[in-house]
Amino acid sequence: MKLEGKIAVVTGGARGIGAEICNKLAEQGAIVYSCDLGVGEFQNDNIKSEILNVVDREGVANLVQKIKEKYGKVDILVNNAGITKDALIQKMTEEAWDAVIDVNLKGVFNLTQAIAPIMMENGIGSIINLSSVVGVYGNIGQTNYVATKAGVIGLTKAWAKEFARKGAKVRTNAIAPGFIKTPMTVDLPEKVIAGMIEKTPLKRLGESEDIANAVVFLASDDSSFITGQTLGVDGGLTI
Ligand SMILES: NC(=O)c1ccc[n+]([C@@H]2O[C@H](COP(=O)([O-])OP(=O)(O)OC[C@H]3O[C@@H](n4cnc5c(N)ncnc54)[C@H](O)[C@@H]3O)[C@@H](O)[C@H]2O)c1
Repeated sequence: MKLEGKIAVVTGGARGIGAEICNKLAEQGAIVYSCDLGVGEFQNDNIKSEILNVVDREGVANLVQKIKEKYGKVDILVNNAGITKDALIQKMTEEAWDAVIDVNLKGVFNLTQAIAPIMMENGIGSIINLSSVVGVYGNIGQTNYVATKAGVIGLTKAWAKEFARKGAKVRTNAIAPGFIKTPMTVDLPEKVIAGMIEKTPLKRLGESEDIANAVVFLASDDSSFITGQTLGVDGGLTI
């Protein structure tokens, strides 16, 4: 097992991609905290469900303190929680803008600010941020979401530099999924889904497992010389 004895925090772990990330990390021997607005259903006893809103800084601080007191470390942070509130710019409300920026960017900031110092202290860690292909090439009707996902690519590079100071082997990478079958995308019109498949060289939608496998790679020592990168897991959509 690649992650025996590692402690992992996964935001948005209750369903979709996040739930599969929790399962795969635990399969590789990690103890995993799934932090979400809801409780996940997991078979593996090494996955603990914690109710957490990533926007709530006090809640984040309390949870991270609890984990630190118990284990003295956090090895892996997966900033996966994310929401969409799509609209063309003319129709996008300030509330929709703020909500998406809050969860998808401030949430990432909150968790990383709480956990990165623990990793720096221990001299090792892996942070993995969920971006999106639309953060690379944009999308109509997703001004707020695209801004956050492009922002995640930028802060990943900043943190790769910042957290590798003083000899610390704290790596930060992003994953930019293509179109993945999850509750987030399930309600999209058939036509949109067929169009995405047509544009994808590998001619299929992604599965949560495709993303979780990439997370395991970036969390493990197999990627020990990789930092600051955005790994496209998109069936070739962005080439
Ligand atoms: N599904 C795709 O096609 C796709 C593509 C590119 C990127 N992504 C990104 O991957 C990540 C996971 O997407 P998904 O499709 O599994 O989404 P999803 O909607 O199925 O799951 C997201 C999870 O995040 C949780 N969450 C939302 N707001 C939260 C908050 N404030 N605090 C804590 N948890 C919160 C939800 O409760 C849910 O369990 C997101 O960051 C998303 O932007 C998804």
